[in-house]
Amino acid sequence: MRNDDAPLIRLEDYRPSDWLIDTVDLDISLQPQKTRVRALLAFRPNPEGQPGAPLKLDGDELALKSLALDGKPLDASAYTATPQALTIPSPPPHDFTLTIETELDPSANTKLMGLYRSSKVYCTQCEADGFRRITYFLDRPDVMSVYTVRLEAAKAEAPVLLSNGNLIATGEVPGTDRHFALWHDPHPKPAYLFALVGGALDHVRQDYVTADGHKVELAVYVEPGKAGRAGWALDSLVRCMRWDEKVFGRNYDLDVFNVVAVSDFNMGAMENKGLNIFNDKYVLADPQTATDGDYASIEAIIAHEYFHNWTGNRITCRDWFQLCLKEGLTVFRDQEFSADERSRSVKRIADVRTLRSTQFSEDAGPLAHPVRPRAYKEINNFYTPTVYEKGAEVIRMLKTLIGDEAFRQGMDLYFERCDGTAATIEEFLACFAESSGKDLGHFARWYEQAGTPTIVASGRYDAATRRYTLDLAQSTPPTPGQSDKQPVVLPIKLGLVGAGGDLPLQTQSNAYAGDGLVILDSASLSVTFDNVDEPPIPSLLRGLSAPARLELDLADADLVRQFSADSDSFNRWQALQTIAIRALVAAGKPGAARSALNATATGLGRALDGFLKAEALADPAFAAQVLRLPAPADIAREIGRDVDPDAIFKAHRSLSAAIGAAVLPQLPPLREALATKGTFKADASSAGRRALRNELLGLAALATPAEGAALCEEQFASADNLTDRLAALAAMTLIPGERREALITRFAAAYAGEPLVLDKWLMAQALIAEPETLERVKQLMQHPAFSLGNPNRVRALIGGFAANLTQFNRADGEGYDFVCDIVIALDKTNPQVASRLLGSFKSWRMLEPGRKQLAQEALSTVARMPNLSRDVADIAERALA
Ligand code: BES
Ligand code: ZN
Repeated sequence: MRNDDAPLIRLEDYRPSDWLIDTVDLDISLQPQKTRVRALLAFRPNPEGQPGAPLKLDGDELALKSLALDGKPLDASAYTATPQALTIPSPPPHDFTLTIETELDPSANTKLMGLYRSSKVYCTQCEADGFRRITYFLDRPDVMSVYTVRLEAAKAEAPVLLSNGNLIATGEVPGTDRHFALWHDPHPKPAYLFALVGGALDHVRQDYVTADGHKVELAVYVEPGKAGRAGWALDSLVRCMRWDEKVFGRNYDLDVFNVVAVSDFNMGAMENKGLNIFNDKYVLADPQTATDGDYASIEAIIAHEYFHNWTGNRITCRDWFQLCLKEGLTVFRDQEFSADERSRSVKRIADVRTLRSTQFSEDAGPLAHPVRPRAYKEINNFYTPTVYEKGAEVIRMLKTLIGDEAFRQGMDLYFERCDGTAATIEEFLACFAESSGKDLGHFARWYEQAGTPTIVASGRYDAATRRYTLDLAQSTPPTPGQSDKQPVVLPIKLGLVGAGGDLPLQTQSNAYAGDGLVILDSASLSVTFDNVDEPPIPSLLRGLSAPARLELDLADADLVRQFSADSDSFNRWQALQTIAIRALVAAGKPGAARSALNATATGLGRALDGFLKAEALADPAFAAQVLRLPAPADIAREIGRDVDPDAIFKAHRSLSAAIGAAVLPQLPPLREALATKGTFKADASSAGRRALRNELLGLAALATPAEGAALCEEQFASADNLTDRLAALAAMTLIPGERREALITRFAAAYAGEPLVLDKWLMAQALIAEPETLERVKQLMQHPAFSLGNPNRVRALIGGFAANLTQFNRADGEGYDFVCDIVIALDKTNPQVASRLLGSFKSWRMLEPGRKQLAQEALSTVARMPNLSRDVADIAERALA
């Protein structure tokens, strides 16, 4: 279907289904090329639907083999079947069953939606609308059914057969080489949560008893020979289950919980009821093949998918417009889990970096949309940073506004009231309005209005009255389809910082300000603080208490003072980031003078040098964050228009090198003191030491390339873990020359046969900020480690290149043409991966005129291609609009 023909689906057009399906009995006979699916569906007229309505079931590339109604073959005149739909114009006006037989070819399924084979393993991905690729169905989340699934396969090919729920029976198929397994899931669920797995898999397992006394068998399934890498995922699962009992009072509700890792997967992972299916990148870990970052993301994603069991599965979404109801809330839950398991402040800094680089940039470009979109052509294009990350921020603000206790009571009420239903944002918010006694009508605007608000703040101190007045104003820039913006509810956590730390807060004008919270819910507001003994530095938006930009004009010297005295570690980090951003924005603008940067470099270098001496060893993970400058892409976003990536990059490099030079004398002793000795540990504290040590290595590579290269070689040779080896490679990529090429070769040789490690090797090369990188990437596409058929390989090499600010945005436009050619090629086999890659163009409009025109031409070439998928056509169309 051409995108122009694709219907626009609107939230306001929602209607309940005319028919419901109470039970689904699936009988699936797995064969590599000819899999037979027999579905017995029990229909019932929906009392909330239209009586006597026709029955139209969704399909996608389906082949119907037979059809029976109440067990009797249906006459061909009574229905029409196409690959996209099965329609019965006049179904019986009462309950009835359909028996539908379809035939599929899992081996030919390169879209990785529906049932497919990945490295000889059968698996499924049904969210958002993949179940219709297995059988004809009412494939919408508000149709919930109880599933019973019989799986059959050749014993040798698929000794392991898994589906949702509890295992009821297994057995041989007499007279054949085949066997079967029967699974039953007592919890009604929408079709997008259906899953099956079949293959030869190893596993690790553990018994678990829930807080309410239910025994559960946990298992993590992986490719044969990889069970030794499944332990961390299983350990993370146990910890997040305990955490959900303690923090949200949620217990698990089946006898088994299975996690399966597969090597071809479009996304990160999927929360199918009782059978989570994962991209193996987010399961497999050992010190030799996973970095500290991998350990942390495995822990977070295992938790995320597990937490969906309540926020997503027990309570699902009425329609896909409510996606943030499960995703934003579940991201919030996984962020809180990681914060409790690790360092809360460091986790918040890392999450804010992600929010700004992914969501703020989306909000600032042509793909901006509200947390709850109002219309879509292709729902798979709305699993975005706005729905996920901003959706999580909205929950975080809700908690800040109503307080911890009312938040927990509201969640309890939501679980109690909406359990077993397909819910809406309105129903969710009603629980918190009730638990807090507050009107959340205005707050709800966060779900409807796109764009990142800017808060402009300024303060005045009056020594005579000892009063400090803070003037606050908000505005939100226009976004596609929303030119008029209204004020939103902004909870601003704040403090007043004096020479010796935070000053006491006294005010008559604002109910919360005494507790360090000001709520800006109109266009502007002034707050006056009394009995302020000295001119304070305002510390605003602590912990980024709202997903907004802050404009506050503080001198560098004040920011340095804030960095040393603020009690809020997030704003300490932010203070130095602000100094760096301001200088880089000034230096990165067209025709900027370089001199301003020198002064900043000296000041920042001195502050960081002192900070490292005093605090590096006390909290290395925090220190690593402080040392890490905002990325060039962050500077580009701040500049916002006429962006010249090369100028920004140059400024960024020179500031980094100057900071490296300033801390250089401390480097050897500090790196020595930070070295983790003895057996490898993946815990947050060891990871923090490695993070800082490797941050210092990167600075050394920029400040003194020859010595830096030697350090990289030494670290690569002596490291006992992948984090340090990869950091050595990454730092070496900053230093052009033969030593770099030699280390690249050594790395590949050391990890031959480790595709997930080689992905990092591909990406490190794709990110090199040099004009030769495009040619290098093209060469690497020929490397045996690369394949266009595997999403992880594509994301590493091509996605890595598209994230390379200077090389994707080459002035000659060849970076755009290259990525677009791949999008067009990939669209024929895997539209979802192709459309995500095309999303790399989301910031093209902020570029200087030359690049802007080249990017537009490349996008237009994509848009003009015949037979584009709806996924790619939708992104191209909106990016160009
Ligand atoms: N439900 C999603 C998986 C999904 C994403 C299905 C897009 C269909 C389309 C899952 O819970 C999820 O959110 N996965 C994330 C990782 C998570 C930690 C944010 C993913 O796959 O990127
Ligand atoms: Zn999710």
